[in-house]
Amino acid sequence: MVARRVSSIDISGIRKMFEAAPPDAINLGLGEPDFEPPRVVVEALARATRDGMNHYGPSAGLLPLRDRVAEQYAAKDRTTSRENVIITAGGSEALMTVALALYDPGDEVLVPNPGFVLYPSHARLVGAVPVPYSLRSDRKFLPDFEELEQLVTERTRVIVVNSPSNPTGGVFPRAVVDRLVAFADRHDLMIVSDEVYEQIVYDGVATSFWGRTDRAIVVNSFSKTLAMTGWRIGYLVADRRLTPELNKVHYHIMACPSTPLQAAVLAGLEDGDGATRAMVREFRARRDLVGRLLGTVPGLSAVRPAGAFYIFPSFTWPRSAREVATDLLNRGVITTPGDAFGSLGAAHLRLSFAAARPALRQGIEIIREYGESAGAA
Ligand SMILES: Cc1ncc(COP(=O)(O)O)c(C=O)c1O
Repeated sequence: MVARRVSSIDISGIRKMFEAAPPDAINLGLGEPDFEPPRVVVEALARATRDGMNHYGPSAGLLPLRDRVAEQYAAKDRTTSRENVIITAGGSEALMTVALALYDPGDEVLVPNPGFVLYPSHARLVGAVPVPYSLRSDRKFLPDFEELEQLVTERTRVIVVNSPSNPTGGVFPRAVVDRLVAFADRHDLMIVSDEVYEQIVYDGVATSFWGRTDRAIVVNSFSKTLAMTGWRIGYLVADRRLTPELNKVHYHIMACPSTPLQAAVLAGLEDGDGATRAMVREFRARRDLVGRLLGTVPGLSAVRPAGAFYIFPSFTWPRSAREVATDLLNRGVITTPGDAFGSLGAAHLRLSFAAARPALRQGIEIIREYGESAGAA
């Protein structure tokens, strides 16, 4: 009934847990800030719709917003201009646009394992082959370059990278970014760098691939930084020879991004990053709280996340990740089984600490009690 490419993918394991949960469950499952967008942004949206910004706009986005995004990226590469920027319907549409524009059927795409759920499914949807590369907790979730060399074939076109990472919270140090660039140069690969958590870092800064190579296409989003996951707005930054091609695909999917949302986001950017910084301060405190509390759970150990708002502990309980997540759901807390992000997520859970502190305390107390009984079983 449906095309084979559709049966090759599944609904995300994150959503499955969420949709199976009772309404009063403590939600440590979904990856979204428990904040509202800054007031100036909400007011600018109301104003934009009242003032008649309710019509189609340019396919690549409103010029002032593209200019504003380009200005931010000019700090990394001063030649960056609006020609490098396309405004999209979130990072998700940006990633699909890139897959459609770059991957031919049969091409191989290196994707992180564990990694965000869309990378392998987008590859499959366009007939390409996702090839997972390992991010192991005992290497602090950093890539193993010997393994990467072994995985490259004549068909490899792209490596997808994501730092700060969903689900691991890992952030690539600058030296790793440089090695990845050298690796891509050596094998003539494009780098698709998903940087949606770029501003959500706790120790140091996240190194962008922009400005370090002209092989990188950067995917970014306002979803997390402006706490507007439901608005669906983000962007792509790419070499100006590529953006017209990417924009063709984007046009055929979207026509154009939402006009009033763009006006609102622009007002937010002009207001500065104070709201994002305040949110990140709170996330840092929660990261420390969660690290401390998880340390009391028998059978669980976690690498301290350096960015994003996830922690990805491993467990030694004699159950699969799905069974553990289901047991925990039955006890009233939503988590995500680690294998939703790839085979190396088996024996891991992903917890989001974009939840209020009382919910984190209660949720982890349930996990601690579970850990005691699972260890005793
Ligand atoms: C790593 C990563 N990339 C992209 C996205 C997509 O974000 P959006 O489509 O909301 O911009 C997410 C959302 O969770 C994510 O975690």
